[in-house]
Amino acid sequence: MNTLSEIPWESLRTRARAATSRSYAPYSHVTVGAAGFTSDGRTVEGSNVENASYGLTLCAECSLVSDLARQGGGRLVAVSIVAGDGQPIAPCGRCRQLLFEHGGAELLVDAGEAAPARPLSALLPEAFGPDDLVIRRNP
Ligand code: THU
Repeated sequence: MNTLSEIPWESLRTRARAATSRSYAPYSHVTVGAAGFTSDGRTVEGSNVENASYGLTLCAECSLVSDLARQGGGRLVAVSIVAGDGQPIAPCGRCRQLLFEHGGAELLVDAGEAAPARPLSALLPEAFGPDDLVIRRNP
């Protein structure tokens, strides 16, 4: 269940758009929603949660990864991340790394109805990840 044609993109977009309404963004007024699809067919969701101490803001992808853990974990195969206008937004740098941890280089990132989804490797080339910790560890 991880080829492009098997991903329920419309459903993911709908859920990501709905998740923007649960965003807490009183400072930036940029609401973000995210929905992810797992290798075993589950859906996870997240919304951004801002903080008066701006740097503590949680992106929608952070919230999505927390939902994944809360559901018992698993691997992400596809994600849709949208802003309040319903259109995809580029995940920030930190969130690319977070998504890499749980979906790897092949994780498909929605680019909207008019464009093909991109693998995370296109957004985060030559990523550092869990395998590097094993390879680089001192004996
Ligand atoms: N934001 C996300 O939720 N995900 C991203 O990948 C980019 C930025 C949120 C954080 C903040 O609440 C708002 O968008 C403006 O930066």
